[in-house]
Amino acid sequence: MRSSLKQPRRFKRLAAIGGLAVALSFGTVSAAAGGVQVQEPSGPGLTADAPMVTSALLPDYDSEIVDQFNSANSVNHIRHLAVDIGPRLNGTPQEREGAEYIGGILKSYGFEVTLQQWGPVSTKRVAKVTSSNADLPGGPNWQMAASTSGKFTGDTGVKGQVVDAKTGQSAAEFPADTEGKIVLMDYSTTATVRNTAVVNAVNRGAIAVILAYPTGNSAPPSFTLTTPQPEIPVIGGGSAHSTWIRGLLAKGPLTLTIATNEYATPMGTNVIGIRHAVGDPTGTTAPIVMVGAHIDSVLGAPGAHDDASGNGVSLEVARVLSQYPLDKELRIGGFGGEEGGLLGAKAYVNTLTAAERARFVGEWQMDMVGTPYEPARLWALTPNGQSNYVVQEAYNAAARFGFDGLRNCRLGQSDHQAFYDAGIPSSLFIWLDYRPPTPPAVCGPTGGTYVTEPQYHKPTDTMDNISPERLQITLDVVGGAVAHNALNAVTVSALSDAGQPLAGAPVRADCGNGLRNLGTTGADGRLKAVFPHATCDFAVTVEGAVATERGVSISGDQTVKVTVDLTEPTISLTRPTGGAVYALGTATAASYRCEDNLSGVVTCVGTVPDGSPLDTSTVGFHEFTVNAADRAGNTASQKVTYQVVYPWDAYFPEEMSGKAGSAVPIKFSLGGDHGTGFFAPGYPASQPVTCDTGKPTGPAEPTKNPGNSGISYGGGQYNYVWKTDKSWSDTCRQLELKLDDGSSHFTTIRLK
Ligand code: BES
Ligand code: ZN
Repeated sequence: MRSSLKQPRRFKRLAAIGGLAVALSFGTVSAAAGGVQVQEPSGPGLTADAPMVTSALLPDYDSEIVDQFNSANSVNHIRHLAVDIGPRLNGTPQEREGAEYIGGILKSYGFEVTLQQWGPVSTKRVAKVTSSNADLPGGPNWQMAASTSGKFTGDTGVKGQVVDAKTGQSAAEFPADTEGKIVLMDYSTTATVRNTAVVNAVNRGAIAVILAYPTGNSAPPSFTLTTPQPEIPVIGGGSAHSTWIRGLLAKGPLTLTIATNEYATPMGTNVIGIRHAVGDPTGTTAPIVMVGAHIDSVLGAPGAHDDASGNGVSLEVARVLSQYPLDKELRIGGFGGEEGGLLGAKAYVNTLTAAERARFVGEWQMDMVGTPYEPARLWALTPNGQSNYVVQEAYNAAARFGFDGLRNCRLGQSDHQAFYDAGIPSSLFIWLDYRPPTPPAVCGPTGGTYVTEPQYHKPTDTMDNISPERLQITLDVVGGAVAHNALNAVTVSALSDAGQPLAGAPVRADCGNGLRNLGTTGADGRLKAVFPHATCDFAVTVEGAVATERGVSISGDQTVKVTVDLTEPTISLTRPTGGAVYALGTATAASYRCEDNLSGVVTCVGTVPDGSPLDTSTVGFHEFTVNAADRAGNTASQKVTYQVVYPWDAYFPEEMSGKAGSAVPIKFSLGGDHGTGFFAPGYPASQPVTCDTGKPTGPAEPTKNPGNSGISYGGGQYNYVWKTDKSWSDTCRQLELKLDDGSSHFTTIRLK
């Protein structure tokens, strides 16, 4: 029987510390077979020997990790990529710079970093535009298209003041001081109009020409001129560029430097960071958890949202996870050439061996993971529109911290497609105004349509197109899912010693850095939680009893069984046994043991210690009690009664005869002089019995001289003089000498 009501539990005591009710730690360790040992903390409150917790319990690892994700760190990475480096067109040095930056950060987190070159890709002709006298809107590094027909200046470029020549079609549009200046004009979609503008500018001594869309578009693609201009760079920008330049010119002189480069059939770059599993330093067996984002941006766009944001989240996930020893291999992919057709991701996937692919748990691709554009929502998009492991794990992570805004539907168009095509579970995570087919407002087999934010693929995809709040949600949902999968999945199974699952039992664990709350077991007695590579002590509480499983080495997905001792200890009492009789003053050692099936005995206390002499110093009945308790707090008690008697010797026969009315001497020994007060009250007494069977025929009555009269001691013997009654003639009577040690002695007399 459970004894929780019998004695106060010592384990579940709550101490109010700093206004928080804090469950104290589960006691000190006692190494014993069975492994489920808890010693009671001695006394109330905090003790020296028990590592008592004096602050709130730590959360589980899922929460601990998500709590550390800070989108401010992601924003800093995004700023470096989109502002300091700027547009990162595939095949340009900026794509590689992005890869090197990401690689450097990952190295600092202990990742093994590889820069993968792949390609070649198509020739890229780009202009880098900077200013020495103005803060350029949208960032200090503008990118425009460099015309094949213009001059490639190399990185030094040409520097000059800018004049605005509007459409550049008439002399009147050119300022008088055009000579030696950089000339801004509208980019016309008509090639002849474009060519006229450039020829006019060159004729007036322009040192460079910027053709920018008056409305609409981003940077124009690389363009040709019917009249080649080998002496000056001719570049094409978007409407944002013309608007910005004209805005700056309205405030005063503007100096720009234009550096044009032709990168002929360049190579693309991926950066891959690998953090090997603890037990698999060569990366041959451990499951692989991968996050990816693309480094490159489209021509002319800083790509803050698309997709510096994805890398910003990847790097923050890497930072937090790098603090934990893991049994899963973590890979961070920064892919180049996504905008050119998922080129980098495809090249990377092609390098994976079949064995490596088989190790993939999944790939969480982040592309555009936090625009402030209001209609955007967080989507998990898969090429077939179906949910998969990667999607489901993101939903689970969202549920863990109460975000219910995640939706799943169908889309390729990013690097997840390359993984999907290789049979690796993947999903695109994206903040997008995605519109599932209506009705119904759920994802159909063909998926839906979408509206991107206005800055998408534009020079205006700047830091203004980044929402720290939405990045944080992405960190928590996607990072939370990745972290959950990068850690070991541990099932704690709480069982009674009878093998029954224990539901609703609080589970805690200490993996060397403090006690954490893991929640309570479900109806099946199980609780699932994740752990890094660690050695942990587990504790399960049931009805206040704590069972622990100490020193569990966690090095993969596994189950930890914690058996809760709900059975009381057993007591085997060999001496005294119930009803045992001992002579007064004899030395007899108590003998008893307590045993417990599971948690072990902590208390086994008898009336005298095991092996010590029983109390035989006084005659009569004595109680002997043994109390036992096990480490789980179950108690048991056993009580017996033994008897201590005088060493008796009778010097009278069991049957005798005499004359009614005579005094009959009854001699006996009690092993010494015990005074005369040893008869039980009312004794000696006699009663009539039949002479042949000895059966009583009447009530017993005290003798005429009961108690201590008629008794004398001498020569080691007692002599009691029994005065018989004349009226008893021709009967038989039984005399009972009942003593204060609980014993009785008899003789029967036939009276004449
Ligand atoms: N970040 C986009 C993906 C995207 C954009 C998905 C908008 C949904 C809505 C990605 O960088 C991109 O632009 N992809 C290309 C396709 C790719 C295969 C060249 C696209 O969507 O045009
Ligand atoms: Zn993208």
